[in-house]
Amino acid sequence: MGRNLISIDDVADSELLLLTSPESRTSPPPAMIRGTLAFLFEQASLRTMSSFAAAGTRIGLAPIAITTKGGAFRDQCDLYDEIDQLSLTSDCVVVRAGTELDRSKLLNCAAPIVNAGDSSNEHPTQTILDITVMRSLGLFGKTVAIVGNLRDHRTAHSLAKGLGRLPVKLRLVAPDGMAMPDRYVPNHAEVVIANTIAEVDNQIRDADFVYLPPVRYWNAPDLDFMGAYDFDLARAESVMRPSAHILHPFPRFAELDRSVDGSKYDAYRMQTAMGPAVRERILRLMLALPAMAVAA
Ligand code: CP
Repeated sequence: MGRNLISIDDVADSELLLLTSPESRTSPPPAMIRGTLAFLFEQASLRTMSSFAAAGTRIGLAPIAITTKGGAFRDQCDLYDEIDQLSLTSDCVVVRAGTELDRSKLLNCAAPIVNAGDSSNEHPTQTILDITVMRSLGLFGKTVAIVGNLRDHRTAHSLAKGLGRLPVKLRLVAPDGMAMPDRYVPNHAEVVIANTIAEVDNQIRDADFVYLPPVRYWNAPDLDFMGAYDFDLARAESVMRPSAHILHPFPRFAELDRSVDGSKYDAYRMQTAMGPAVRERILRLMLALPAMAVAA
């Protein structure tokens, strides 16, 4: 029976620090296994699936993607039945679900189950990646503003919970109606409603990290925010600290203009680039393989 990673809460504080350590030795330990890493994705993915596939390959797991949708019979299959069946033939099952995962239905799976984003609930491995990037840029003691649709965006939910366990100042900035649900908000977070460009600007002036979950994603594709949540290089230069960093879970929409790409604010290319290495750490933890050595 495997260990599951459904929420960022499933990672102990000590494990969170180890997994997100900015230091790692250059050559990975030789411990390799031969097996398969199965992907059961009910929603599209580019970054999560490709980085887990790369990570699995590094430790000897062949990635296999499973399609369970697309037929009148198949569409009625029980997701938990299918995950359980897949766990019998795979060393680890990575799941992206269209509904919030029920951990109580995954307890008897034969292999570890990893949540790769369940509807608008959580995305714990994205948070481990995001915090690793922030720590490599200097996170502790700094101010992080998560800015956008905090009601629906799973990356923001897991990130708020993860950052709530670390020595950072956390600010949650959303427009009316899109505030983060209480169950994801850590005790010491500052919660702000901002609807205009000036109101949003006031919340990011002192931030060291600005994380942008898209306002137009999920349940709000047609809402007009009058530019309050759209950032280009000119706005970043006029409002943000010169040393600040922008992160974004991707895919992007109008909230992140391409003029920011490659600028001093751009930490989101680093986010994507570090995906395979961070997810290798996660797989090693889930499969109880020797961890990458990290500095104390
Ligand atoms: N960040 C993220 O989850 O991206 P994908 O949807 O491409 O996996």
